[in-house]
Amino acid sequence: MYKLLIRPIFFLFDPEKIHHFTFSLVKFLSKIPGVPSIFRGMYQIKDKKLERNLFGLTFKNPVGLAAGFDKNAVLYNELANFGFGFVEIGTVTPKGQVGNPKKRLFRLKDDKGIINRMGFNNEGLEEAIEQLKKNKGKIIIGGNIGKNTNTAPENYTEDYVACFKGLHPYVDYFVLNVSCPNVSSHAKLEDADYLKELITEVQKLNNAEAQQKPILLKIAPDLNNQQLDEIIELVANTKIDGVIASNTSVNRDNLKASKERLQEIGNGGVSGQPVKDRSTRVIKYLADNSNKAFPIIGVGGIHSEKDALEKLKAGADLVQIYTGFIYEGPSLVKRINKAILAES
Ligand SMILES: Cc1cc2nc3c(=O)[nH]c(=O)nc-3n(C[C@H](O)[C@H](O)[C@H](O)COP(=O)(O)O)c2cc1C
Repeated sequence: MYKLLIRPIFFLFDPEKIHHFTFSLVKFLSKIPGVPSIFRGMYQIKDKKLERNLFGLTFKNPVGLAAGFDKNAVLYNELANFGFGFVEIGTVTPKGQVGNPKKRLFRLKDDKGIINRMGFNNEGLEEAIEQLKKNKGKIIIGGNIGKNTNTAPENYTEDYVACFKGLHPYVDYFVLNVSCPNVSSHAKLEDADYLKELITEVQKLNNAEAQQKPILLKIAPDLNNQQLDEIIELVANTKIDGVIASNTSVNRDNLKASKERLQEIGNGGVSGQPVKDRSTRVIKYLADNSNKAFPIIGVGGIHSEKDALEKLKAGADLVQIYTGFIYEGPSLVKRINKAILAES
C-alpha cells in the first residue's frame, strides 16, 4: 500500500515538508485508541531468535532507525510501534540551530537516493532532554551527538561533552557523529589524534557515572583503507564500544541523476542505494582487518531484506535504515526481520 498509494502522493511534495507532515500524521494517528496496536500488529515481529545482546544491551531485533530522522526525539515512542529494535535520535547539538538555508533535502528518484545538506538543524540539547523525559521505555534509544556549526575547533570537545553529560540519564547508547559532510571545519573530525582525544575525554566522563553507557563512533563511507586502519587502531587503543558505518557520502560517481540536476542541487551527502556498496565495503574492511574485534552497526542503502543480509554477512551486528524507510515504507522493517529469522 505504501509504495502504490502513499509514496506517489508524498513524492509530489517538497521532501522536508512531507517529513514534517508525516510526523504530525503519525503523532495524530497514534493518539487514536487502538491505532498503535494496529501498527504493532502490522509491523512488529516478536521472536527470541531476533534478539541481539550487544555492549550490555538487549535489542529486541537488529533493525534500527538511523539518526537524522527523529532529530529532536519527538517521535521515538510512536516509532517504537513500527517494528524497530532501536531508534537513534539526533544529531543533537548543545544549542538549537536552524541548519542550512532551505531547500536542503532532495530526492534522487532514479537512484533511489537522497541528497541532503540539512546542517544539523535541531532544537538543541535542552529540548531533546525535555522530549526524552517522555520516554515510555518501549524501545532502545541511541543518542547521536555533534557540535554546533559555529563552534570554534578548539571547543569541539566541549560541545560533545555537554551533549554527553546532558543526555546520559536519558539514552541507552551514544554515538559520536564525526562524519557529517554538511558541517564546516570537518578536517579536524577526521584526524585520528583528535578523535582519540575526544573519545578519551567522553570516556572519562562515562567512567565517572554510576552506570556506563556504550559509546560508538559514526564514520563516513568515503574513508580510504589507510583511514580505516586508523579507525581499527583507534578502537583498539580507546576500547570504544563500536562503530557505525556509515554516514552519507560526498562521492557522486555512477549516479543516474543528470549532471545538470546534481549541479542544481549543489552540495550535500548522498544516501540510499548509491552508498550501499561503499558502506558494505567499509563494514567488511573493518570486520576482516580487525578480526571482528568490535561491534559494527551497518547502515547505508538498505532498501530490501537482501541488502540487510548483505550488511550482516559483511560483518555488521545490527543494521539501521533511513532512506530505505522513505522509499520502501515501514513494511521494510518487518521484511528484514522475517528474512533474518528465515536465515537463523
Ligand atoms: C535527511 C537526512 C538527514 C540525516 N541526518 C543525520 C544526522 O543528523 N546525524 C547522523 O549521524 N546521520 C544523519 N543522516 C545519515 C543517516 O543516519 C545514514 O547514516 C545515511 O543516510 C545512510 O543510510 P541510508 O542509506 O539508509 O539513508 C541523515 C540522512 C538523511 C537522508
